[in-house]
Amino acid sequence: MSINVLVIGSGAREHAICKSVKKSLIKNKIFCFASNYNPGIANICNNIFVGDLNDKKSILKYALDKNIKIAIVGPENPLEIGISDLLINEKILVVGPKKNLAQLETSKIFTRELLKNYNINGCPEYKAFNKLNGVKKYLERLGNDYVVKYDGLAGGKGVKVSGDHLKSHKEAIKYCEKITKQNGKFIIEEKLHGEEFSLMSFTDGKNLKHMPVVQDHKRAFEGDKGPNTGGMGSYSCEDHLLPFLSKTNVDEAKSINNNIINALKNKFNDNYMGILYGGFILTDKGVKVIEYNARFGDPEVMNVLQILKSDFLEICLAICEQKLDNVEVEFKNQATVCKYAVPIGYPDNPIKGEKIDISKLKNQQNLFFGSLDEINGELIEAGSRTLAYVGVGKSLIEAEKISEESISSVKGPLFHRKDIGTNDLILNKINKVRLLKK
Ligand code: AMP
Ligand code: GLY
Repeated sequence: MSINVLVIGSGAREHAICKSVKKSLIKNKIFCFASNYNPGIANICNNIFVGDLNDKKSILKYALDKNIKIAIVGPENPLEIGISDLLINEKILVVGPKKNLAQLETSKIFTRELLKNYNINGCPEYKAFNKLNGVKKYLERLGNDYVVKYDGLAGGKGVKVSGDHLKSHKEAIKYCEKITKQNGKFIIEEKLHGEEFSLMSFTDGKNLKHMPVVQDHKRAFEGDKGPNTGGMGSYSCEDHLLPFLSKTNVDEAKSINNNIINALKNKFNDNYMGILYGGFILTDKGVKVIEYNARFGDPEVMNVLQILKSDFLEICLAICEQKLDNVEVEFKNQATVCKYAVPIGYPDNPIKGEKIDISKLKNQQNLFFGSLDEINGELIEAGSRTLAYVGVGKSLIEAEKISEESISSVKGPLFHRKDIGTNDLILNKINKVRLLKK
């Protein structure tokens, strides 16, 4: 018997999800509810439907029409509007938490309060506000090291860091004012210094199976400079640690992820079924929590799924059937380097509509299509992160070489970060962490 699988979303993350479902030994047909026609996904799927990811009724209708057994939610927006609640009501299995539980990503205040109220390690000093009263005083208390975060989803644009986006308390207060004028809430918290990393876990709400830790690179340009982006590339190591992270640090992050799931279970008496993404930072005071996401990270998903030894669809079914403790979740001891090619001008003024050519690329198994259209048989840049390539090897050096050679062979008005996964950049990170400890 074959099962029908729905993948919601159509970026490189969802292309990676589709490829992993396709590899499963469980017979399946893949259907995709997409925000744009991704030619990579279209190639794998039985059907791709382009619609509005914020229109949950239309997603539900598609799922019912296609007799879907299990849905895998890629991006956060459908989670915020409660797509999981709706599909679960119709007895469709869903990898992706219900609306209440997805607040872990959709509300920064929710997450900080959860950490605090359940005494979970890693919470920075913070205060939540819905008006300007007390803001000035709290900023004065934090001095020059503060971060202002809009409470809700803002497509990565809601977080303003001192010294980076905010040059003075005056600018910070102006940003807070902008939020309150729109009746929004926000958090002010201490600015943490260190190296960031991501730990994603599969969870059925009771059991967690952790993935290898990955480091993303948010800045657009080499040397971690320039504006923030959705993520320009990421790497993971063959020992499933990172060059600047010890096993103790990773165990600490795992324990925080475990405690988060226990806290959610206690608070809502419900199971968080899906992917838990912990965004951490290693500081001189240990591992701290930057944020939580309720889905796979992009690009991090490409690093981990490329070395997953176990059957991805079997894991997804176990997540929804609360049997995650019964399935094996194993990853190969290989290093991975993922590099994104993005349009010239990205992220502020990306060009669009230009042709790209992937014909020189030798191994397309490890290629993932993102913001790309297919028009008259040609691949056309659609304005955001265009495509990603994951090099896999015995060591970071080997994986980086493959990734660099491959992404460089894509022709068109694109750029990528040559430094991701290279020795120089890694040594910089190790040194930065050494200096923190002094
Ligand atoms: P978020 O949307 O919460 O992931 O924040 C986006 C980025 O802002 C993170 O990846 C960090 O680089 C930065 N950031 C968020 N919170 C802090 C913090 N407390 N200290 C320093 N940087 C932060
Ligand atoms: N790579 C960061 C994210 O997916 O949010």
